[in-house]
Amino acid sequence: MEMTLTVNGTQHTLQVHPGELLRTVLRRLHYFSVKHGDETGDTGADAVLLTYEPDQPNSYRLVNSGVMLAAQADGAAIVTAEGLSGPRDTEMHPLQEQFVACGAIQCGYCTPAQLLAAKKLLDVNPAPTEAEVRDAIAGVVCRCTGYLKPVEAILRAAAQMRGEENPPYAVDIVDAIEAGEWPTGGGDRGDDDDGDTQTKTKTLPATLAPPQTSVVNKSEPKVDANKLVKGRAVFADDMEMPGMLVGGLLTSPHAHARIKRIDTTRAKALPGVHAVLTHEDVPRVLYASGGQSFPNPPPYDQVSLDNKVRHVGDRVAIVAAETPEILQRALELIEVDYEVLPAVFDPVEAMQEGAPVIHDEPDAVKIHDAAHNLVHHLVVNHGNVEAALAEAAFVYTSEYRVQQVQQVSIEPHVVLSWWDEDDRLVIRTSTQVPFHVRRMVAPLLGLPSRRIRVVKPRIGGGFGGKQEMLIEDLCAHLTLATGRPVRFEYTREQEFIASRSRHPQVLRYRSGVDKDGKLVAMDLQVIADAGAFGTHGLTVQMVTGFRGLSTYWLPNAHFDCLVVYTNKPTPGAFRGYGAPQALFGLEQHIEEMALAMGVDPLEFKRRNWVKVGQNLPLAEAMGEGREGFAQLVKSNGLEECVRRW
Ligand code: FES
Repeated sequence: MEMTLTVNGTQHTLQVHPGELLRTVLRRLHYFSVKHGDETGDTGADAVLLTYEPDQPNSYRLVNSGVMLAAQADGAAIVTAEGLSGPRDTEMHPLQEQFVACGAIQCGYCTPAQLLAAKKLLDVNPAPTEAEVRDAIAGVVCRCTGYLKPVEAILRAAAQMRGEENPPYAVDIVDAIEAGEWPTGGGDRGDDDDGDTQTKTKTLPATLAPPQTSVVNKSEPKVDANKLVKGRAVFADDMEMPGMLVGGLLTSPHAHARIKRIDTTRAKALPGVHAVLTHEDVPRVLYASGGQSFPNPPPYDQVSLDNKVRHVGDRVAIVAAETPEILQRALELIEVDYEVLPAVFDPVEAMQEGAPVIHDEPDAVKIHDAAHNLVHHLVVNHGNVEAALAEAAFVYTSEYRVQQVQQVSIEPHVVLSWWDEDDRLVIRTSTQVPFHVRRMVAPLLGLPSRRIRVVKPRIGGGFGGKQEMLIEDLCAHLTLATGRPVRFEYTREQEFIASRSRHPQVLRYRSGVDKDGKLVAMDLQVIADAGAFGTHGLTVQMVTGFRGLSTYWLPNAHFDCLVVYTNKPTPGAFRGYGAPQALFGLEQHIEEMALAMGVDPLEFKRRNWVKVGQNLPLAEAMGEGREGFAQLVKSNGLEECVRRW
């Protein structure tokens, strides 16, 4: 159907599909500031200002263009972030100026929608309260910056628009340690063996204050802030190519099943479908998807498309079609007969005798004990924990469980691939690890890496979730099959079921102290849930072991970790990389232990935390699965941290 839209003052007459979304049409017109965050409007990244009465300046409403049909906007006038000011950097709306001045932007993916929400508010309320500002932008979710600085920026923009003068923007600088007396918890190096557990002090000189510089401790505008507030095309998906197809994934509805028969005949026959690929169409090349240095730590337990599914959301088939609507219909037309298998979701149950075997394929490489779903068994030891615990004055044991958590970057995973003028395959992707992607995807595609060029533009939040070779192979397989450029993007639901997350763990701590309240030994046993594939299973747990046994100085320490397959979506890298799980358990354990002894938890911690000059024996023993190295503690901000708290 034909429709008319006026966007930022420019009238467009265009043909749209009756089911086409307004967001799709705006992006087709190259208003790339209008983002895809989800299919339900929950993130608000797709917000635009829209009115059917452009003569009434205050009639604009903030709408989610991703849940509105383009046809519904026929005759409407729309404002996007590109329309807030002129194209030059020197032309800025006060909101854009203040977002830059306040540093209210990190990845910038949510910024265009936040600016529009703020504009709507200031158009009708030139002097909003902080609560009104917070309410106005509440529908636009930010995963990186938070809301403090955007709220500050909007209040300052409001003042500027009222003709008031804002003071120069100043950040709250955290000063260096103050000079004077500081407790050190029993000796500067924590190595006093005189039995004196009284808190000691040392005098810190004023020279610890940092030297004055022109940049450090000053508020500096972010170097790439201007392009972000102006909504310029900077993210992986912010481009259109002639003839570009839409790629998509058919996911498993079962947690554990074998594909007995898969029939793509009807899907392939649908006009506008250019490729339908299953495990019968792509080479079976084993790999590990974690974005890690060569050689990737084993196991190699994944292939691009398999004849078995191991979690709800696992890969079944991929399609390239001319439009999202045709793609959706084609995915529905793929017929799959599954032999549904028993599934297991708890790692403790998964390693028991008789539990369903998740990786029974004969060609998987270096799974520790596939018959018991054990990806790895890690053991690291320093000293003699059992002997020390036997002689300890007090021993305390506790167990914790931490849950699976998703990174939820507002930009979903998205990949574009095409053949360039030199017959190289270009993969433009929202990744944190472009060089790893190139090396890892090459054997899956049967291409030498010199014929692959991976482009990593700005990403809309990663948090470790994009430290993986996730869908680059799928998009590239479709370009290989069709010869056409392909865009392949996850839905928000797929982000949860077919992406990566934080490893759930069971952590059991057992510690002993001597009569003076000093830790003599700690044992940490971890059962880590790796979900369906090994990927970052080894390295994340090594960080758990290291961080979980290094805040407090331990003459004897032992780490034992079982990494276990389950029929759940696969965890991977996530901010902290195994440390948050361990530190939650450790701090909880230490506080409970202190209280059980009738000791002030803070004093107990201060007495035992690692001091400057001490070594970290577990670092040498572990080395993240590779060669270890000695580490000496040269600084420690714990005392300062506790003081400020
Ligand atoms: Fe808001 Fe990244 S800056 S989502």
